[in-house]
This record gives sequence, C-alpha cells and structure tokens, in this order.
Amino acid sequence: MATSIQNQTTALIQQTTTLTQSLTKLGQDLKPTPETIQATEAAQGDRLQRTAIEQHKYKWDKLTDGKTVAKFTAGVVTAIAALYCAKLSYEYALKQMGRPQIFDHWSYKHPALKAFDRMCGRTDTFENRFNEFVCPPGLEDRVPEIFLTIKSAQENGTPLPNMAFLGDPGTGKTMLGEILAHQCGLEFAHTTGPRIAALAERKDGSAILEIQKMFKAAKQLAKKGKGILIFIDEANAFLRDRKSDRSNKELSAALEEFLANMTDGANKGIMFIIATNLFDELDPAVKSRFSKVNRLVFKRPEEKQIAQMFSQYLEKEKTSGKTQLTIAPEVKALIMDYAQQFKGEAGREIKACAVDIGGRARQTENKVITDAIILKSIRKTLQSSTDEQEFIAGYGKGY
Ligand SMILES: Nc1ncnc2c1ncn2[C@@H]1O[C@H](COP(=O)(O)OP(=O)(O)OP(=O)(O)O)[C@@H](O)[C@H]1O
Ligand SMILES: [Mg+2]
Repeated sequence: MATSIQNQTTALIQQTTTLTQSLTKLGQDLKPTPETIQATEAAQGDRLQRTAIEQHKYKWDKLTDGKTVAKFTAGVVTAIAALYCAKLSYEYALKQMGRPQIFDHWSYKHPALKAFDRMCGRTDTFENRFNEFVCPPGLEDRVPEIFLTIKSAQENGTPLPNMAFLGDPGTGKTMLGEILAHQCGLEFAHTTGPRIAALAERKDGSAILEIQKMFKAAKQLAKKGKGILIFIDEANAFLRDRKSDRSNKELSAALEEFLANMTDGANKGIMFIIATNLFDELDPAVKSRFSKVNRLVFKRPEEKQIAQMFSQYLEKEKTSGKTQLTIAPEVKALIMDYAQQFKGEAGREIKACAVDIGGRARQTENKVITDAIILKSIRKTLQSSTDEQEFIAGYGKGY
C-alpha cells in the first residue's frame, strides 16, 4: 500500500515537473521579442489604415450612390429655380408697381419693394449732389428762388412750377433737376425726347399710350401726397414745332396728348422740367406752358465757377478709386491759372478732365496729383476741342 502511494506520488511529481517545463517553454515561446513587437505593431497599423480606408470608401460610395446624387442635384436645381423665380417675381413686381416704360429712370419704389430691398440689405444709392453743384453765371439768385417757389407750392397746395432749362450741353441742367427733386422731397423721373420719338416711330400708338401711362402714374403718386418731378431731356426731339415735322403723325399725336394733360392747375404735385439747347424749335403751345419767368439759361462757367468746379472734382478724385491720392501743395495756388486755360469748356469737360488727372496720378509711383499731370491733361482736353472744331469746320467744307 505504502509502495503504491509512493509510486503515485513520484508519477505526479514527474507529471508536474513536465508540465512546468512545458509551460516555461511555452512562456518563453510566447514572450514578445523586439521583432515580434515590431511585426505586431505593423500589423495593427495596417489594420487601422485598412479600416480608415474602408470607412472613407464607405462614405464615398454612400455619397456617390445614385440616390444621394439625385437628391443633391434635385436640391441644387430647386434652389436655383427658386432664386430665379424670386428674381422674376421681383422684376415683375418692379414693372407692375414701378416705372412706366417711358421713363429710363425713376426714383419711386413701392413700399413693399422698399421693404424687400431692405431685407436683402440693398440701400438707396441715390447720391445727393447739392453741394457739388456750382451755379452757372447769372443764375446765382434764380436757383435759390426755384427752391423757395417749390417749397411754397408744397406748403400751400398750389401747382408746382413747370420749368424750361435752356443752354449748352454739359452745363448742369439734368444735375440741377435731380438736386431739386431730392432737396424738395419729390420723386424724380427721367425721360428723353429721342426715347419718346422712338416710341412714335413704331407707329402702333405706343407713344400716346405711354404718355397716358406717365400722367396716370404721376397722378397716382401725387394723390398719395408724394410729388414728382418729371425731367424731359433733349426735349426738342419730342416737343418740336408740329409745323416743322408733319410726316410723323404719331409724334404729333403724342405731343397733343402731352399738351392736353398739361392744362393749367390740373396736375397738382406734378412738376415738369424740359431741357433743350434748341428752345426756338419747340412747339408754340409747349413754349406757352413753360412761362418766361420759369425759363433758366445755363451758360458755360466763367473762371470763378471753373476754379470752384475743378478744385472740387480734383478733391473728389483723391478718394474716388481704391488707391488714395494726394494733391501736391503747389496745385492750390495754380487753380486760377488752370481755370483760365479751361475757359469756354462746360462743366462736363471739367469733370472729365479731373477724372483723367486722377487716373494718371493713380498710375504713378507716389500717387500724387502734380502740376505736370494736370497740365498734360488740360492740354489734351484743349487739343481735342481744337481738333473737333477743325474737323467740324472741315466737314462743313465737304472734307
Ligand atoms: N454747374 C455744374 N456744377 C457742377 N458740376 C457740373 C456742372 N455742370 C456740369 N457738371 C458736371 O457735368 C456732368 C454733366 O452735367 P449734366 O448732365 O447735368 O449736363 P446737361 O446740361 O444736362 O447736359 P446735356 O444738355 O448734354 O443733357 C454733371 O454730372 C456734373 O458732374
Ligand atoms: Mg441733360
């Protein structure tokens, strides 16, 4: 019995020893060596990378799968269509509630459109140029008087004065019209004689129809308490003497429609200004509706006005572009000299010359308006005037 137990114990010890040895060997086999660590890490990195690629691939597949692409395209198309519809509706609304076709510009906007513009962050871009206007010679007292006449008519509910601005091109007729409207709180509408004459050329009654629409729109505005100033530029193309042009019956009929609507006192809150260089050519019935007290002759500026205009437009050039300019100190003292050279030029030319000077100065390295630049530009302006006169004289002789 004792021998058997001893034998069993020995066998157990041997088995345990063998097992321990096997475990130790297994432990040694399993112990990570630097090579196995490196291999494992590489394998793990590989797997992670593969997972990331698979995820990307999954996302890309999802993104490019037919349904998603279709949904995305439909979304974009709907958004574009919605924007386009909004634009069309806005333009339609503008037409319906806005400008009659006869006007190439009018300042009035329906309150609903104004609100819409405000929502879109659009602001009124009308620039008040009251301080920019230099009174032409001889009108220093007349211009302030017009302001007073308009103000008085507005306060007393009497008809606004109809005025005729006569004179050379580029002397500030349209500019003053816009300023008057702005300063007196009137809406401003602008049309031209040639525009109306072109409507008459169609010979389908549209000129008469547009004149009627113009009065209707103006009367509606006036009824709302908002006055309107209608400016007809180059008026002789429309309002010329009917006897001088009998061929265009449509134009004569449009003129008659205009005259019929211009009966005294019938248009409270509506003011007309006609501008022309050829007042003599106007129809006598038109002339009589723009009485002598309300006719203003715009003469070309004299040295004093030129100097004022030129220095103000040079000053404006300093900040009109992206690049800030400075004016050389000697320029101020020479302004009267420049003005002398400009004698005979209209305000439009003086402004154009200042703009040219600004452009030249912006091309220089130090961005300074110098005497040399000014003289160069003035010479160019004067040379063009001489060339033009020579060309006209030559043309008259049959060149
Ligand atoms: N008296 C002035 N004061 C200031 N700027 C002027 C003056 N006259 C003309 N200008 C400048 O010239 C530009 C053109 O003037 P405007 O269009 O008013 O001339 P106009 O007399 O109506 O000419 P047109 O007979 O060709 O219609 C103005 O926008 C302004 O910059
Ligand atoms: Mg004009």
